[in-house]
Amino acid sequence: MKNILVTGAAGFIGSAFARYMVGKYPDYNIIVYDKLTYAGNLDNLLPISDEENYRFERGDIADRAVLQQALETHQIDTIVNFAAESHVDRSILQADAFIHTDVVGVFILLDEAKKHGIGRFLHVSTDEVYGDIEDGHFSVETDTFAPNSPYAASKAGGEMMVRAYHITHGMDTVITRGSNTFGPYQYPEKLLPFFITEAIEDKPLPVYGDGLQVRDWLFVEDHVTGIDTALHHGKSGEAYNIAGEDNRTNIEVTRALLGHLGKPDSLIKHVPDREGHDRRYAMDCTKLRGLGWQRAHNFESGVKLTVDWYRDNAWWWQKIKTGEYLEFYKRQYAARLASADNE
Ligand code: NAD
Ligand code: TYD
Repeated sequence: MKNILVTGAAGFIGSAFARYMVGKYPDYNIIVYDKLTYAGNLDNLLPISDEENYRFERGDIADRAVLQQALETHQIDTIVNFAAESHVDRSILQADAFIHTDVVGVFILLDEAKKHGIGRFLHVSTDEVYGDIEDGHFSVETDTFAPNSPYAASKAGGEMMVRAYHITHGMDTVITRGSNTFGPYQYPEKLLPFFITEAIEDKPLPVYGDGLQVRDWLFVEDHVTGIDTALHHGKSGEAYNIAGEDNRTNIEVTRALLGHLGKPDSLIKHVPDREGHDRRYAMDCTKLRGLGWQRAHNFESGVKLTVDWYRDNAWWWQKIKTGEYLEFYKRQYAARLASADNE
């Protein structure tokens, strides 16, 4: 392992991984390959932009010609794939890009990796492939897939292709399935960065339905170390859950954010629910712990770091909340907020 192509690393988790890898492994070259969609942001890579062992290439994982060039120019021997369309609400409004990147793109990336004799191929996936989890159960890696949103279905499709390339072509693959991740540099459409930045500006927080949906919350730095562990120690052909093991309802999360910000609960608005909304995600990550991984943060410490970061870095998110972002906001929230109920 020497020259690692990290795809989708101008986004939230991938950029955290790139920043971490560049510092932790000076002998590795980290080549970020990203299409720079609305979610890709070179500001996320500014802290490493002058490092010797970091390079950036703009490209689509579904574009064979550009991909081939990057694989050859940088003599890539390892791939870590973060590239994806990642927001459930956008997949409900329009799923085309999800199929393009999360299914077709993953296939093309695998196919070019095979042709170029790439060694390890780590594919970053999600707990959403398991679907809605009944109370008391914690998903394990052998559970069946039951994706419910177009996003989850596209990620499940990508995973199936990774499996097929391992079994059919003997590729050295590892899959990680992370839970809901939060932290600095997350595009302000996901629950935490959206609500934190809206609350800072005293805007309403649209909680879907009763807000009693449960997610497992994982701080981004722990997600990154989990991927590093699976990359170096994971067994070929296996999948590993990465969980925060901190299960909370959306309303609890929202109140915690407001508490840290010193803002009133009256900003909470209950709005019509997300279509097909999964009630509960919960995972067991005993398997990854067996490789030596453990979390460094809990929800409380992670939220404090996250809230402080957004408060101190308005320059980062204020320029995002313009143009295309406002179009999405209008499509997603205008009608919902018009029929909102107060807490
Ligand atoms: P993100 O939306 O912040 O970033 C995605 C990145 O991929 C962007 O930089 C974007 O420009 C890039 N990209 C999109 N399509 C591309 C293409 N066709 N070719 C090249 N680059 C492309 O996403 P994130 O939250 O950082 O998620 C990263 C990965 O982790 C995704 O695979 C996602 O499914 C998975 N994941 C996310 C979470 C979470 O809570 N955010 C949890 C578990 C798993
Ligand atoms: P999100 O951050 O979109 O992640 P995911 O859908 O992948 O779990 O949403 C997390 C939870 O927060 C989910 O149950 C939906 C809910 N949510 C709201 O209630 N309001 C919102 O505006 C958003 C974006 C999410």
